[in-house]
Amino acid sequence: MFSDDNRYLTIAIGKGRLAQKTAELFEKIGVGTGGMSEKGTRKLIFTDEKDRIKLFLAKPSDVPTFVEYGAADIGIVGKDTILEESRQVYEVLDLGFGACRMCVCGPPENAELLKHHQQIRVASKYPNIARDYFHNRKDQTVDIIKLSGSVELAPLVELADVIVDIVETGSTLKENGLQVLEEVCPLSARVIVNRVSMHMESARVRELITKMRKEIYRDE
Ligand code: PRP
Repeated sequence: MFSDDNRYLTIAIGKGRLAQKTAELFEKIGVGTGGMSEKGTRKLIFTDEKDRIKLFLAKPSDVPTFVEYGAADIGIVGKDTILEESRQVYEVLDLGFGACRMCVCGPPENAELLKHHQQIRVASKYPNIARDYFHNRKDQTVDIIKLSGSVELAPLVELADVIVDIVETGSTLKENGLQVLEEVCPLSARVIVNRVSMHMESARVRELITKMRKEIYRDE
């Protein structure tokens, strides 16, 4: 299909944990990140004139929105955000890094509350993932309480019985006397693509994805 070679291919990257690894990956495959990983930079858009690629940093939860609306052709974001936002985008590649798990966690004595379909309170930064897990996979009625951070506080101050949250090293749980009670799903950084760009920019999108795949999985 027709593609304008002068057009910039635009890539949205979630700020924070995944941004550094993403910048390293792009440098390895020859995409200039124009100082994206410089400490303290407040710049939002970085341009690689050679390959006509624009990279921009966005709040992770906004990355699927930019991609769905075509403001970015491609997005790099965690599977947690993709599941929570349920945007109309293609998920095309698992980058492997940022590996962690979405889990139901709480004090060990609350494990029992997950066994009997009883109504419980669940705090999470991911209300849609939590609702889907309890309603569709466990058939358990729950009150979901949306929090924005430090979710581990919720069971400690009796705001909720359990939480649905990301567990990476497990140290936040351990330091607060909480445990993984059930695993919801594994997570990692993924590449998403706008549905129109997948066709209109097919050659450039595929070339970039192939380079990323080869770099990530070259030892396998
Ligand atoms: C995330 C997550 C857990 C923690 C898990 O929080 O929500 O709290 O990391 O990591 P660990 O298993 O290695 O301890 P984040 O640091 O993003 O901040 P937040 O609590 O403010 O959301």
